[in-house]
This record gives sequence, C-alpha cells and structure tokens, in this order.
Amino acid sequence: LTADQANLVKSSWKQVSHNEADILYAVFKAYPDIQAKFPQFAGKDLESVKDTAAFATHATRIVSFLSEVIALSGEESNLAAVNNLVSKLGADHKARGVTVAQFGEFRTALVAYLQAHVSWGENVAAAWNQALDNTFAIAATTL
Ligand code: HEM
Repeated sequence: LTADQANLVKSSWKQVSHNEADILYAVFKAYPDIQAKFPQFAGKDLESVKDTAAFATHATRIVSFLSEVIALSGEESNLAAVNNLVSKLGADHKARGVTVAQFGEFRTALVAYLQAHVSWGENVAAAWNQALDNTFAIAATTL
C-alpha cells in the first residue's frame, strides 16, 4: 500500500467507521450464512436483532478491529503488527468454522457498503482493493 493509498483508505473509512451496527447489518443482510455462524444471532430474524445491545457490541468489535488495522496501514514499521493481528483473527475464526469463502463474502459486502456510503472513485476503489488483497491474503494463511 502506498502512503497515498493508505491515506485514501483512512479518510474514506472515517466517513463510515461510526456506523458500526449499520455495517454489520449490511453484511448479515447480504450473507445470512455469516449471521448463522454467530451463536447469538443464528436462526433469528435480522430485523429483530439489529437494534439490540448484543448486536451493537459485536458490530463495535468488528469495526474496531478494522479501525485498528487501518490506523496501522501505510507504515512499513507496522507491517509485523498488522501481520500478527490479522493472522490471529484468521486462526480465531477458523476455530469457529468460518471459511475463506465467507471472508470473501464479508469483503464483498464491505466494499458494497463503502461504495454506497463514502465518496467513491477509481483511486479510492483501487486503494481499498489493494488494502483488502493484502489483509485477506494474511487471513487466508491461518483460516
Ligand atoms: C468474533 C463470525 C468475519 C472480526 C466473531 C465471532 C463469530 C464470528 C462467531 C464470535 C462472536 C461471539 O463472541 O459470540 C464471523 C464470520 C465471519 C467473520 C462468520 C465471516 C466473514 C470477521 C471479519 C472480521 C471479524 C472479516 C474483521 C474485520 C471479529 C472480531 C471478533 C469476532 C474482532 C471478536 C474478537 C474475537 O473473538 O476474535 N466473529 N466473523 N470477523 N469477529 Fe468475526
């Protein structure tokens, strides 16, 4: 990721990083198989859980993780830290039966959300694509 790309990811992420529950809702709505892996939400109507405290808690965990990795991006000296965080995320999710394909679904839903909610364009799209290629390749090593 170039410094410019890291800045584009950071500035666009800032536009949506406070929409935690909205982002998780969009992911579950597009991919019910992801929702089904969460013991607390499996088999429940998405509309009835989306405003609960448990939903907000999970949404905040996921979005905070993304914020943490994004904050580290664009600095070579942070590469080892990113690698550690994302490989651990992959291993923790593998233990829950989450698949590489589901991470791919999450990526698709996240990019669709960004496209609809941030100032989008070719450069922003390319920056996110590169950032997600890099991090998902790390996750795939332990998933
Ligand atoms: C926790 C499922 C993707 C970040 C969890 C939990 C489940 C889960 C079942 C445990 C919830 C609990 O405590 O009851 C999934 C599924 C995914 C997915 C099915 C399919 C794509 C992601 C992605 C991220 C993420 C892409 C990061 C951006 C987290 C975090 C936690 C968590 C930070 C809490 C910390 C932990 O327990 O590891 N996830 N997840 N998840 N997930 Fe995911």
